[in-house]
Amino acid sequence: MSARPFYIDTDTASDDAVALALALTDDRVDIVGIGVVAGNVPLASAVQNALYTREVCGRGDVPVHVGADRPLVLPLGTAQNVHGHDGMGDIGLELRGREPDAGHAVDALIEASHRHAGELTLVTLGPLTNIALAVHRDPTIVERIPRVVIMGAAADHVGNVNPVAEFNMWVDPHAVQVVLDSGLPLEFVGWDISRRDAVIVPSLADELRAIGTPLAEFCIDIQATVASFCATETKLAGFDLPDPIAMAYAIDPTIATETRRMHLEVECDSTTTRGMVVMDLLGFTRREENALVVMHADHERFVEMLREMMARS
Ligand code: BDR
Ligand code: CA
Repeated sequence: MSARPFYIDTDTASDDAVALALALTDDRVDIVGIGVVAGNVPLASAVQNALYTREVCGRGDVPVHVGADRPLVLPLGTAQNVHGHDGMGDIGLELRGREPDAGHAVDALIEASHRHAGELTLVTLGPLTNIALAVHRDPTIVERIPRVVIMGAAADHVGNVNPVAEFNMWVDPHAVQVVLDSGLPLEFVGWDISRRDAVIVPSLADELRAIGTPLAEFCIDIQATVASFCATETKLAGFDLPDPIAMAYAIDPTIATETRRMHLEVECDSTTTRGMVVMDLLGFTRREENALVVMHADHERFVEMLREMMARS
């Protein structure tokens, strides 16, 4: 079977990097482009982090394009308290001086949708700003992209940036609104999945790092600041990997053990619940379903995918 074309949009920080590594080293998928957006870190840092990761994976052939440097309406809020000032755990990586490819990420996505019309999978690992801009610029894009996997929201409505919102949705809720209304075929992997099915406890982190390849050491070491955030703020038993579990599902949908279609809406105006994606679990709104939501995923198979990726060098 030939590799399926993927386009990835990312606000590259520590967990995005692991998701990129999963995709860039898996021969089931052909990464036709990477777009970068401001989110976890300011845009310039996210771009350097994506370029560094591409290099670690030995994939200088995959184009990395610079996208939006801020959300559509709101000022940018970053997550440097989670991922470190440099977004990669502040472990002293040399994250400067690499050059991205020419062309804006929004144009690159539209172009990819033409080149791979009817077969492109779009995977988003950050705020949806670039995707909303692409929908604005060329609304026909929705006819050419048959699958969009989004890391974002939370089906249990427990947030990681305020009590009810997940970070990617919180950064640019107006972009989420555009994407939810676009007619794109959306599949959400939320922070609830990450918190339950993608936690790497310290003994597992040690085991994975001991695989000993440059990729294994890179993927574990850059989680340094996330690990402390998870211990003190989100109170997990280890660090979680939201973007990688979304990418694992994008590559192999059978990683999801339960999915549901439902209607989703996002809160843009409230200061208390900004970015909350309200999932109509019981069908109260009677509104048309606009997304498929992953409700449960297979932790063991996810870890196996990580192991296989880290063993590649
Ligand atoms: C998401 O927000 C970011 O911190 C992570 O990279 C992930 O995309 C988790 O809420
Ligand atoms: Ca991300």
